[in-house]
Amino acid sequence: MQKAADASQNSAAGAAEPIIEVRGLWSVFPTAGGGQVVVHKDLDLTVRRGEVLTLVGGSGTGKTVLLRQMLGLNRPARGQVTVLGRPVAELTDAGAAARVGMLFQQGALFSAFSVLDNIALPLRETRAVPDALAREAALLKLQMVGLKPGDAHKMPAELSGGMIKRVALARALIMDPPLLMLDEPTAGLDPDSSDAFVALLRSLHRELGLTVVMVTHDLDTLFELSDRVAVLAEQRVIVCAPVPEVLAFDHPFIRHFFLGERGQRAMELLRTRHRDGEKGQ
Ligand SMILES: Nc1ncnc2c1ncn2[C@@H]1O[C@H](COP(=O)(O)OP(=O)(O)OP(=O)(O)O)[C@@H](O)[C@H]1O
Ligand SMILES: [Mg+2]
Repeated sequence: MQKAADASQNSAAGAAEPIIEVRGLWSVFPTAGGGQVVVHKDLDLTVRRGEVLTLVGGSGTGKTVLLRQMLGLNRPARGQVTVLGRPVAELTDAGAAARVGMLFQQGALFSAFSVLDNIALPLRETRAVPDALAREAALLKLQMVGLKPGDAHKMPAELSGGMIKRVALARALIMDPPLLMLDEPTAGLDPDSSDAFVALLRSLHRELGLTVVMVTHDLDTLFELSDRVAVLAEQRVIVCAPVPEVLAFDHPFIRHFFLGERGQRAMELLRTRHRDGEKGQ
């Protein structure tokens, strides 16, 4: 498996060094009945600097738990997770936001805080900079994600779904982390907002040289952004490779996910775009 992935790097992933290494990971939770559920069993995954790596898998296969393992929010029952050359357990709360930005599945803004205060929060929590500077940095990030200075004083309840995602993204990027994790970034957005958010992620990825680990079940988002796709099934990553190789990997989940009617449509769209040179690669 690993061999197939290693032999199949595309231009963006290239010969780049590993930035996250997951080796022999077991994620285990106790159940109410006194038993245990094994979510990951001997799972290996490598994320390389500068790539967009997308995690896919059926609901409950442990995509979010894997992101949480890479953030140090869950503990391996066995195995290791190394981020930027250090065991993830060493990512302290204060240091974590500076290394990894996270956009959670639920967006999660603080409803009592304004847009600007939500964005500035991680910076304020570390008390690394004076308040005026934190505000200035938050204003910059606000504009970087395509919002206007006039949005700074709005409250979360006044925002559209797309704006909430943008604010959450600005907050994830406030410490200029080299690594960004996105859990279902376009879920719940209408098609136009979703396309606009994908375009924003694509340009930020390029401009900031970010490494991105993303979970999505949205094929348009996957095809638009991914350098490689890691498929979770049978408690591990069964294949991690660029899309064409993943498609060639024979597994029921892959057939269902990519080659069903929905997948065929998305791939036809992608082929047309490639022909028209939209992706520019
Ligand atoms: N803190 C926890 N305690 C017990 N079980 C947990 C915990 N967190 C996750 N699980 C279990 O781990 C499994 C994987 O959950 P996870 O949220 O990672 O799935 P997922 O692949 O992200 O699914 P979805 O696509 O629905 O978001 C599920 O069976 C879930 O119930
Ligand atoms: Mg999830």
